[in-house]
Amino acid sequence: MYKIIDGKKISSEIKDELKARVAELKAEGKSIALAVIQVGNDPASLVYVGNKKKACAYIGIESLSYELQEQTTEEELLKLIDKLNRDDKVNGILVQLPLPEHIDENKVIQAISPKKDVDGFHMQNVGALCVGGEGYVSCTPLGIIELLKRSGISIEGKNCVVLGRSNIVGKPMSLLLLRENGTVTVCHSRTQDIKSITRQADILVVAIGKPRFVDETFIKEGAVVIDVGIHRNEENKLCGDVDFEKAAPHASAITPVPGGVGPMTIAMLMNNCVKSVDL
Ligand code: GUN
Repeated sequence: MYKIIDGKKISSEIKDELKARVAELKAEGKSIALAVIQVGNDPASLVYVGNKKKACAYIGIESLSYELQEQTTEEELLKLIDKLNRDDKVNGILVQLPLPEHIDENKVIQAISPKKDVDGFHMQNVGALCVGGEGYVSCTPLGIIELLKRSGISIEGKNCVVLGRSNIVGKPMSLLLLRENGTVTVCHSRTQDIKSITRQADILVVAIGKPRFVDETFIKEGAVVIDVGIHRNEENKLCGDVDFEKAAPHASAITPVPGGVGPMTIAMLMNNCVKSVDL
């Protein structure tokens, strides 16, 4: 019988721990503020940003909301980031992605001060992760490590396979698993015979962006399966990159969608905001 890894419950525990820590910081006269910038009205982004602000309110972090019009120019956005970089009252800056096509996403990310880059997307923070330095780590992969640890799943010496090589999930995920002494393989769209590789995985992290792509034929008996995907199926119900019904009976532990990785991303964003006080 497989175990369902309850990301909702684990993220609640983390948020309660952070709430207590923020109360202590407040007693020392320290407050935390996160600037949240959204450009345009992408419906999914609206939901994510709303959830991030809700989490801030729960934990005791002030969220400063910047809702910019779709037509906002790159220059205007860069100006706002520059202002927030220089504002001592702002600890963290989050620019919700994706940005409209006329704005260069990378330019915007690199404009955020690495000390305020609570998303962990800036090159300096990615580089720090790579060489074992101090810095912010991307929230989704960080949340997955926390899910594994708090579920009593050890990573050391395990065959870890990551499906997907994005800057936000796949690449930092592989670096974090390596940092935890896993043996890591990254598969992507050009990988030949993916199944022969995923079937070797003790821990399989799926971040490929294709609804229900991974079924039982990808999975070694007893593997731990982590699903990063989130999609709406034909019936408008949420589903992941993993076909849960088919895959779960072959796994020892698996994350559901929703209620798996998603809530952990927000919990780790809050963790990074709290960490910003010490940077
Ligand atoms: N869009 C999808 N995921 C993320 C994330 O983790 N951070 C930001 N800023 N935008 C996103």
